[in-house]
Amino acid sequence: MIRGRLAASTLGDLLGDWRRDGTGGLPAYEALAERIRLLLIDGRISADVRLPSERELSERLDLSRTTITAAYRQLRDSGYARAVQGSGTTTTLPLARPPATAPRSQVIDLTMAALPATSLLPAAAALATEELAAHYDTPGYQLIGVPALREAIAERYTARGLPTDPEQILVTSGAQGAITLLSRTFVTRGDRVFADSPSYPHAYDALASAGGRIVTSPVTPEDGWDTASLAATIGRTNPSLAYVMPDFHNPTARSMTLDDRHELLHAVAKVDTLLIADETTGELDIDRREHYGPLATLAGEHGARVVHIGSASKLLWGGLRIGWIRASADILGRVAAVRPAHDLGSPVWEQLVAAHLVRRSGEAIEERRSQLRERRGALADALARHLPDWEMPERLEGGLAAWVRLPAPVSSQVTLAARAHGIHLTAGPRFGIDGAYERRLRFPLTSPATLTQAVAILGELWPTVADTTPLRLTTSEPSV
Ligand SMILES: Cc1ncc(COP(=O)(O)O)c(C=O)c1O
Repeated sequence: MIRGRLAASTLGDLLGDWRRDGTGGLPAYEALAERIRLLLIDGRISADVRLPSERELSERLDLSRTTITAAYRQLRDSGYARAVQGSGTTTTLPLARPPATAPRSQVIDLTMAALPATSLLPAAAALATEELAAHYDTPGYQLIGVPALREAIAERYTARGLPTDPEQILVTSGAQGAITLLSRTFVTRGDRVFADSPSYPHAYDALASAGGRIVTSPVTPEDGWDTASLAATIGRTNPSLAYVMPDFHNPTARSMTLDDRHELLHAVAKVDTLLIADETTGELDIDRREHYGPLATLAGEHGARVVHIGSASKLLWGGLRIGWIRASADILGRVAAVRPAHDLGSPVWEQLVAAHLVRRSGEAIEERRSQLRERRGALADALARHLPDWEMPERLEGGLAAWVRLPAPVSSQVTLAARAHGIHLTAGPRFGIDGAYERRLRFPLTSPATLTQAVAILGELWPTVADTTPLRLTTSEPSV
């Protein structure tokens, strides 16, 4: 996520091929304002960023100053920018989510890949409520976590083939809290940090906001990890942290093969990089054949240092806001020392609920498997029917999303056009760090009815996006 001052060259790169509009002949200034708004909405540019001067941007984009002035004015009028005395134009974000043209009740939100609560939740909540009484005479601050939950998580790792002691578990505010804490603990400003490309966007954000300079290597739904590139990148840049999702990677849904795992562990061990394996979506298995258990089960062979991150959010329920870190006592000690600056622990009742649910992970996996299988089928059917030249990944054996391939590099245009019809999507480039992935759109495996409805609407508006021709800039400038 961009903060501070935005250079004209960086904004130019982020905008990509914005001159093709998918909404039926918008004038250039409006199309430009729309694309900058999209960068703000999906988090690639943060609020309070100083936009390039009108002169710099007009040179970089080869447009008249009048067009840039009008685009900035439109951003200001719609609440996405403000003029700051002596500092030009600065971005802002309206507090409410940006208005879509469709009424709010009809908005279809496809920006989140998450399932509703497991059906096991009410029983766990009732048990937790009874148990809460035992905590009334304690202060309730649990910097490391409630013992019952740490035990349940440790037992789950042990059952999955990685013997674990409760002392090796620290409960966090979701896996996001875990990524943030690990970044703050182990990244010093200016350090290189490794992540896949594409990857989970808020992991990029956490690594970057801790001061890390992100280096990447590719993962594709077709070919998985390019381990030669991964090993070369890690060997060359010597990152202080490497962040990966070995199972059901978000957004490609790919899982590492056994060879991939060995090559990754070998690469990080060689330069003594701390490896974070995020397993937030790792147990959402639909029909995968091979299983290798947690990455750390293989780490000893290479002498690699591996930290696991887990979460209740995707298997159980995101509303619990419970995640965790599994690491050595030494690493957890360092993380615990950094934590109070961020939060002072996770809520007790939610941890008690999560403890019951983690113990029933096997049942939850079965429940999710049938839900995800049905959703995957619904998406494939809807795409085949309404958007036959959009490609569903061939291997989608688990996880919560499909990294769909578009026939043209128009992901941002589709996202903007969809917004005007009440469908909120995350454009492909949000999952990279350099403006790539305009040929991809991530579809969360949400309910079959929602997917069918959304894809039908996208099918209707697709011809207007697919037919886009470059804007005729001379005729479309505003008369100011
Ligand atoms: C790979 C990955 N890691 C972490 C998170 C954050 O999860 P949580 O809700 O546990 O903070 C997500 C959420 O989408 C995710 O996909």
